[in-house]
Amino acid sequence: MAVGKYSRVDGKKSSNYCSTVTIVVFVALCLVGVWMLTSSSVVPVQNVDLPSEDNKNEEKQQVAEKDSRQFEDSSGDLPEDAMKGDRDTGDSQDGSNSNIEDNQNLAEKTTENTAEENQEEEKSVEESVNKKTESEEQSKNEPDNDGDGKREDGVSKTEDGDSNSEVGESKNEGGESNASEEPKSEESSGEKKSDSEESEKKSETEESSGETKQDDKVEGQAEQNVEQNQESEQSSAVNKMDEQVKDQVSNEVKDQVSNEVFPAGAQSEILKETTTQNGEWSTQAMESKNEKEAQKSSESKDQNGYSWKLCNVTAGPDYIPCLDNLQAIKKLHSTKHYEHRERHCPEEAPTCLVPLPEGYKQPIEWPTSREKIWYYNVPHTKLAEIKGHQNWVKLTGEYLTFPGGGTQFKHGALHYIDFIQESLPDIAWGRRTRVILDVGCGVASFGGFLFERDVLAMSLAPKDEHEAQVQFALERGIPAISAVMGTKRLPFPGRVFDVVHCARCRVPWHIEGGKLLLELNRMLRPGGYFVWSATPVYQKLPEDVEIWKAMTELMKSMCWELVVIKKDPVNGVGAAIYRKPISNECYEKRPQNEPPLCQESDDPNAAWNVPLQACMHKVPVDALECGSQWPEQWPVRAEKTPYWLQSSQVGVYGKAAPEDFTADYEHWKHVVTKSYVNGMGINWSSVRNVMDMNSVYGGFAAALKDLKVWVMNVVPIDSPDTLPIIYERGLFGIYHDWCESFSTYPRSYDLLHADHLLSKLKNRCKLTAVMAEVDRILRPDGKLIVRDNVETIGELENMARSMQWEVRLTYSKEKEGLLCVQKTIWRPKEVETIMSAIA
Ligand SMILES: *[C@@H]1O[C@H](CO)[C@@H](O)[C@H](O)[C@H]1NC(C)=O
Ligand SMILES: *[C@@H]1O[C@H](CO)[C@@H](O)[C@H](O)[C@H]1NC(C)=O
Ligand SMILES: *[C@@H]1O[C@H](CO)[C@@H](O)[C@H](O)[C@H]1NC(C)=O
Repeated sequence: MAVGKYSRVDGKKSSNYCSTVTIVVFVALCLVGVWMLTSSSVVPVQNVDLPSEDNKNEEKQQVAEKDSRQFEDSSGDLPEDAMKGDRDTGDSQDGSNSNIEDNQNLAEKTTENTAEENQEEEKSVEESVNKKTESEEQSKNEPDNDGDGKREDGVSKTEDGDSNSEVGESKNEGGESNASEEPKSEESSGEKKSDSEESEKKSETEESSGETKQDDKVEGQAEQNVEQNQESEQSSAVNKMDEQVKDQVSNEVKDQVSNEVFPAGAQSEILKETTTQNGEWSTQAMESKNEKEAQKSSESKDQNGYSWKLCNVTAGPDYIPCLDNLQAIKKLHSTKHYEHRERHCPEEAPTCLVPLPEGYKQPIEWPTSREKIWYYNVPHTKLAEIKGHQNWVKLTGEYLTFPGGGTQFKHGALHYIDFIQESLPDIAWGRRTRVILDVGCGVASFGGFLFERDVLAMSLAPKDEHEAQVQFALERGIPAISAVMGTKRLPFPGRVFDVVHCARCRVPWHIEGGKLLLELNRMLRPGGYFVWSATPVYQKLPEDVEIWKAMTELMKSMCWELVVIKKDPVNGVGAAIYRKPISNECYEKRPQNEPPLCQESDDPNAAWNVPLQACMHKVPVDALECGSQWPEQWPVRAEKTPYWLQSSQVGVYGKAAPEDFTADYEHWKHVVTKSYVNGMGINWSSVRNVMDMNSVYGGFAAALKDLKVWVMNVVPIDSPDTLPIIYERGLFGIYHDWCESFSTYPRSYDLLHADHLLSKLKNRCKLTAVMAEVDRILRPDGKLIVRDNVETIGELENMARSMQWEVRLTYSKEKEGLLCVQKTIWRPKEVETIMSAIA
């Protein structure tokens, strides 16, 4: 799904590529030969070391991962997805490619870091932190031991780091010395893309990584995967190879991938070509080794090799890369379906940091924030001007205040919420109804007050440069995302929302065969309600009457039953409440198949860049299928294993799905209470908006359910699709590709949590870009908690330090690490202009 954007220009396979390849290989070999003669003897030695170290790690890791017990020995560290198995381990090699720049220096620093970490912990984290973390890890180690352990980790990190920085070196050059190496960087981005398409190949990487010795080159059989990395390098060394050949190569590689076989005779040419790159690799190894030594001797490690810049974009401090791609928006043929409010991600995710608005202050804490926020944090007077008379937003001195919550709520949102339940007691806020979708949410007052009824509302509104409603909502501590009902499915699974609400939303539901309403139908649970309180429901203007008529007809054809229509005498507004059927009886009885039922093959959960379709999915009737029964009442729902998780299914961590689910929850309850809430020095009263960047079953969010926070659970598009489970337990979330920007405003979350996400992600995209995105999402003083392998943790720690973040805690044991860092108000001085975001 995600790949679409990355597709490279391929398919131009020409019949004579073999000979071309051979020539190229020959030339390359010659170059390597020359290089070998001229290069220092140190290199091969290093080369031998690194990969084999990697290799060992990987093997071990893999073994560990296959062992499902890993979950139980939860010493506080959540094991990596069983999924990761062959994919990830192999990937780490490729990974070093894709986040080359990031890694530079890592190697150097890590050793020192380990020492520093100890200090750091003593200094900035209270001793209790240390102790608690240890207890979390159930380690009875003495502090000294602890330190030793870390040092050991540090050593291994260094070694891994070496291999990283070799590549890193080269990339950096590509990026920065624009003169000679420029083509390199450009191509490598292309190459990376192909990497992601060929993920299966990774399984082979393990072998190859061990053999990066130059001597093995020629016969180097398994080395073909290294070639991906090399493709970028090779371009500069073997300059003569033209685009076409490279395409062919990558095609060839793809073919191999699809067969999932180890290289055999037929592929040897490519392999050889690949191996020619080793020359380049070794060069990089040598360079970075020298570099490291130089750095070590000068003991200067203040600069981590990251050079952050401030984004120069038209949107200024409100920049959302995928929604502010003005260049792409300009090129749209039509904006009739709000295409200009849909996501259009820049070719390359930006690595610049978003500026802070002038006069920014620490946000007001929940629940006060529901009533008032700092004007300077969200300086959009337009909304106050436009909506002021509607009792939405007022500018009161330094504050923006939210006296009511919109025209709909003249007597307060709670009154309106209760009016709905009085109209239809079966709604039962906070018991039967737990997770709702609020379309066209305004400033999300509805969602804000639903918290008092134990209801979670996913609110969405289009990004609008004048109104920034979603930004207001998030600043208030109310969940919301920037999204529009346009031409694509919303990034949510099918049949997960208990209620869909739309108050005065200006969505033209009835047009085009009800396409947009059919999208709501996709997301609404069978038996769930659609609450529509718009003027056509209660006003009699000719236009309203017409819409009402059209809607009535559409609803009937969709088998949505009008359960109640009622006018609130106090507010003067009315609501019509419809119910989605719980069987297929009505669909089958319709005189016309209009709107049609979807093809059996149409997956209602497929929602990442999937075009809207004017069709309806059948209601699941198999008692063991998701959506065939209403979930448990809240709060039992949070802990109960969904009825449709069966023992015959294998869970994400390798056990039978139900046990997997339970173990995950136990694990996170343990980690949250023992470590996050008490052991990390986080003051949770200043935490409100939380995001779990890799949620799996939502165990982390469930473990936080008694705190006054809400958690946006993200299920990355290349992870197992567990989002329906998250909704089933009364939590909410969204699909997302972390190689792109999230559909939220800058500074809108207080805490991000990334469990075994980034090590995996760096195979597909640049870690600096992901960190820049994390920085964008987090407000100043916001925290990032990462659990991952020690290499990644080390890398992130360096990156965080280079952004002047405060390292609150780093901890590692064996190969697993934990990091808690806090963003500061530091912004870089240098500026980078993002042309795609300049009006
Ligand atoms: C890249 O080119 C720009 C503009 O020509 C120049 O200012 C800059 O110094 C160059 N960078 C490097 C690393 O050579
Ligand atoms: C930001 O970009 C604009 C448009 O390219 C340019 O005119 C302006 O000078 C840039 N500002 C800085 C500080 O570089
Ligand atoms: C946590 O923050 C709240 C509000 O900002 C403050 O009143 C409280 O003293 C803080 N607690 C600790 C332990 O720092």
